[in-house]
Order: sequence, then structure tokens, then C-alpha cells
Amino acid sequence: MPLPKNEYLSEVWKDGIFDNKVVFCTGGAGTICSAQVRALVHLGANACIIGRNVEKTENMAKDIATARKGAKVLGLGAVDVRKPEALQEAAEKCAKELGGIDFVIAGAAGNFLAPMNHISSNAFKSVMDIDVLGSWNTVKATLPYLLESAANHKTNGKTPPPNGTGGRIIFVSATLHYTGTPMQSHVSVAKAGVDAMAHAVAIEQGPRGITSNVIAPGPIADTEGMARLAKSDNLAEAMKKVPIGRYGSVKEIADATVYLFSDAGNYVNGEILVVDGGAWHTQSDT
Ligand code: HXC
Repeated sequence: MPLPKNEYLSEVWKDGIFDNKVVFCTGGAGTICSAQVRALVHLGANACIIGRNVEKTENMAKDIATARKGAKVLGLGAVDVRKPEALQEAAEKCAKELGGIDFVIAGAAGNFLAPMNHISSNAFKSVMDIDVLGSWNTVKATLPYLLESAANHKTNGKTPPPNGTGGRIIFVSATLHYTGTPMQSHVSVAKAGVDAMAHAVAIEQGPRGITSNVIAPGPIADTEGMARLAKSDNLAEAMKKVPIGRYGSVKEIADATVYLFSDAGNYVNGEILVVDGGAWHTQSDT
């Protein structure tokens, strides 16, 4: 059953703003990333979502495609972001079948709750490899296509072409590392690396037309991350201390994504957009 539009996208956005654009998203079968992609597809984009689980990824691709009549959404399963060759193949396939890559969402992440003394070196490395190396591999695999997109600005027949609407990356990070979060040392270190990577890409590739930003979601309801993290009573309590008085929704992360990829976000580069209802400001009180 397709999701009703009002569950994944705000009414402020106009249909067609992403016509002829292609989004490549790792972790695209997950709750947050699938909502981001669904919103972009609804507004005109075609998409390629990457995941490790074949069935989950393919089913999610089919479901996202229902957001717009005629949408093309590829679901490439069995792609582990830790393997650069697999990502390169996926990017190549996306570009070949959909005509290029204009937007990238580096969203694949790994997480579990554990105190430091219960995290082996291999467990730490697993999360670093998925989050940091995986994001790096994603940038490396897609950068040639993003540069092409930034250089060409597909115009959809419009003159003058929309300014800057190609060659954009969003990294999905977190706020855990701003203050330090118990049971999340591994992820905190990894997400600090992801933030640093986004800044590095912004500075180094900005002159070539690329923008690179971070969305840092706070406690978002009905997500895999929350399901995992809320297992800790302390953390669940901490997450209730959101100044705005509620958990966020995936729609609010999708809205931030649409903003950054739209013409409204043309001059935003190297920034972290925290979407958490003000929650991280209370993190140190836990
Ligand atoms: C301690 C654990 C553990 C746990 C796994 N390990 N779970 N250690 N506590 N709960 C250890 C294993 O024992 C092993 O170490 C090492 O981690 C690797 O585990 P594998 O299962 O072999 O690795 P892999 O299959 O690659 O799995 C990676 C994973 C897993 C990160 C451990 O959880 C995973 O695949 N997650 C992907 C999906 C996911 O996490 N989504 C949530 C994203 S939410 P040893 O020493 O025994 O070999 C998110 C939100 C962040 O990121 C911020 C929210 C606010």
C-alpha cells in the first residue's frame, strides 16, 4: 500500500522541481533514507537505492516508485558500502540506466548500543567501516557523475537553466558526538568523521560546482535507529527531553533534504543542518 503524500512530504514543495534529476542513495531501504528518496521522486527525480539486503532493497524501490506516475527507481541489493568496487559498479549501473547522477545521499550506517568495554576492536571497526569508509567509497564512486551534472546542469528545456541544481551530496549523520553519548562511542567517532568528510568535500569540490552538506537527524519516530537506541531506558528518557516536545518525523528529514537539493539551497555548502527539535542542546543533561 503506497504511503499517502501527507505522510512523507510537506505541501510547500512544487511538483516537478526535480524533473530530470537522478538521486543515488546508500542505505536507501532504511526508514529515513527511503523517505528522503520518496520525496525527491514525488517531486520529479528518478532514483537508485543501494542496500545490503536484496529483497528489502528491491521491494523498497518498487514502493518508492509509486510516489509518482512514470517514476524509475532502481533497487540494487547485495551492495556493501565497505566494498569500493561494488559501489562503483552500482554508480555505473545507475548512470547507465537513469542517465547520470545529480544528487547523492550517503545514508548507510551501522549501529548498536554497547558500553565501550563491550565493543571489540572488530565491532568498532565494523561501524567505522560502514559509516566512514562507506561514505568515502560513496563519494569516490559518484564524484565523476556529480561533476558532470554540476558542469551540465540539465535544463529540462528551461532557459536560463536552474542555477546550481546538480552535483550535490548530503551525508546523513547524527548529533551524538556533539556532547558525547553513553553506549554510542563507536558511532560518535564515526559520525564525527562523516561530518569532517562533508566539510572536506565542500571545500575541495566546491570550486568544481559540488555542494556537500550534512543532515543530522535527532530522535525520529518509527525509525530503525530509534528502535535500536530506545532499547536503553536511559537513552529513551534522554530522547524525551526534546525542547519542541515531541519526536521528529521522517517527513521532517525529507523536507530538509528537498530544501538542500532545491534551488533554495543553492548557496548552502559545508553546513550541518540539525533536524532534532533542539534535542542535542539537552544531551549534556543526561
Ligand atoms: C557489541 C556487537 C554488537 C552489540 C555486533 N557486535 N553487535 N558488539 N554489542 N550489540 C560486534 C560483533 O560481535 C562483531 O565483533 C562486530 O560487531 C561485527 O559484527 P558482524 O555482525 O559480524 O558485522 P556486520 O554484519 O558487518 O554488522 C555490522 C553491525 C550491524 C553494525 C554490527 O549492527 C549492522 O549491520 N547494522 C546495519 C544496520 C544498522 O545498524 N542500522 C541502524 C542505523 S541507525 P567481534 O569482535 O565479535 O567479531 C543509525 C542511527 C545513528 O545509525 C544515530 C541515531 C541518533
